[in-house]
Amino acid sequence: MNVMVCGGAGYIGSNMVALLAREGHSPVVYDNLSKGHRAAIGAARLVEGDLADCDRVVETITANGVEAVMHFAAFIEVGESVQEPLRYYHNNVCNTHSLLRALERTDVRKLVFSSTAATYGMPESVPIHEDLPKHPVNPYGETKWASERMLHWQSQTGKLSYAALRYFNACGAGNGGRRGEDHRPETHLIPLIIQAALGQRPDIKIFGTDYETPDGTCIRDYIHVEDLCRAHLLALDHLDSEQELIYNLGNGSGYSVRQVIDTVKRVSGKTIRVTETERRPGDPAVLTADATKARTELGWKTEYAALEPIVASAWEFHSRHPRGYGDGAEVPLA
Ligand code: UFG
Repeated sequence: MNVMVCGGAGYIGSNMVALLAREGHSPVVYDNLSKGHRAAIGAARLVEGDLADCDRVVETITANGVEAVMHFAAFIEVGESVQEPLRYYHNNVCNTHSLLRALERTDVRKLVFSSTAATYGMPESVPIHEDLPKHPVNPYGETKWASERMLHWQSQTGKLSYAALRYFNACGAGNGGRRGEDHRPETHLIPLIIQAALGQRPDIKIFGTDYETPDGTCIRDYIHVEDLCRAHLLALDHLDSEQELIYNLGNGSGYSVRQVIDTVKRVSGKTIRVTETERRPGDPAVLTADATKARTELGWKTEYAALEPIVASAWEFHSRHPRGYGDGAEVPLA
């Protein structure tokens, strides 16, 4: 199938492009390279463009015979979204609107959309089931939820079949540790701990040690990027017969910040300096997924259930590419 991957040069998008290619599909990457890396997509077709440019999206769809779209292109930093909500609404909501207009103009009906556990805000209970109330507590979560609602109403017209996949904490590196996380600036826990292990930062800061969890630090559900991508392929298959699919994607098991730090220490064999600091605003104590729906309806199985192999794949990427994609190393698709 010819699949346009918006944001396909980013962390999760590039792993998706590689998986699509391995599975015999023809991905075309649509990315403005504001965050993504050309080196992450090997020889995949790249159209450098912005989603706001609806005509260019239409041209790309027509020229490449696109039959389905996966949409990863978004801003993802919670803290930044609070500082600059309008940028987030523009990129995450307005540009999703622009993409939907392009799909409508070209009669492309299938869309797989990257959503997030941040749509739930501070959940009433964990593990989180898809039907729990959505009360996002920051513009990032709010913009993803607003986009989901737009997809819902567009699907009700019969012109769109979509899957909204709510990721928990995406991490690890695909292709045997060769296609990993390279955000600038980096704010995610696992790459930050690894940077501390590599001596690229003085320490790792724990944001809060007084949460109501067994060791006082926040618990999250870490899910390997390739497991996430496999769910996208399954969802795409199911859009042949379904109009609206919504799934949580997580392992269902939680690890505390301290447990993640200990795992990186074990995997890397390095000493890591830890500094305990104040809570980061907006962090729920525990976020874990009830992903039963994806497992039963899609037949989704995760290959990385435990944290250690996930961290090992991330360590492989960062220790091999200490400057990320900045060292110019192109990662082939296979
Ligand atoms: N943390 C630290 N120190 C750090 C960085 C993070 O202690 O230097 C803690 C955070 O407070 C949090 C945990 O590590 O408790 C994980 O933090 P991340 O920033 O890696 O991830 P989040 O859980 O905040 O958010 C991630 C994605 C969001 C997504 C969310 C869904 O970044 O896009 O998962 O669960 F919405």
